[in-house]
Amino acid sequence: MLKPETIQIVKSTAPLLREKGEEVTTRMYEILFSRYPETKELFKNAPKEQYKILANAIIAYSSNVDNLEALGKAIDTMAKKHVETNVQPEHYPMVGDALITAIKEVLNPDEEVLKAWEEAYNFLADILIEEEKKLYQQLETTQ
Ligand code: HEM
Repeated sequence: MLKPETIQIVKSTAPLLREKGEEVTTRMYEILFSRYPETKELFKNAPKEQYKILANAIIAYSSNVDNLEALGKAIDTMAKKHVETNVQPEHYPMVGDALITAIKEVLNPDEEVLKAWEEAYNFLADILIEEEKKLYQQLETTQ
């Protein structure tokens, strides 16, 4: 579980992310593909506005980080898409690194805010990894 302070800090960044979320995610993909070029091919069929989709997901997450039920359907959709494109657990630290670096560069936040986002990212990553594990197992048993 996330600590109440972490939840509160992440929630407080929602308005700033609404303003600059797309800038953050555009930068995130640049960092991701330059530091981890092996992730590029996962996105070969991704829509051009993928950065907007991710920005919206991050904004939704920041506003609902204390109400994950509200995100339930969104989490299912993401996990399904990730399994279709063969996203694996080892990719999560790469995206996490790129996202945190992009947040640092674009929003120039206090250390405390950055730390809270790191925790919140890892929390969501663990939920997605678990969900995706179940979906990969289902695929194995039906094939
Ligand atoms: C907490 C972390 C993550 C969040 C919040 C997230 C969010 C999303 C969202 C909202 C979508 C769009 C789903 C849809 O089309 O309806 C998506 C798709 C996708 N994500 Fe993630 N994602 C995360 C982690 C990752 C990781 C670690 C990778 C691997 C590098 C990844 C690769 C992809 C790919 C390849 C797609 C599909 C693009 C396409 O072809 O349409 N994501 N993700």
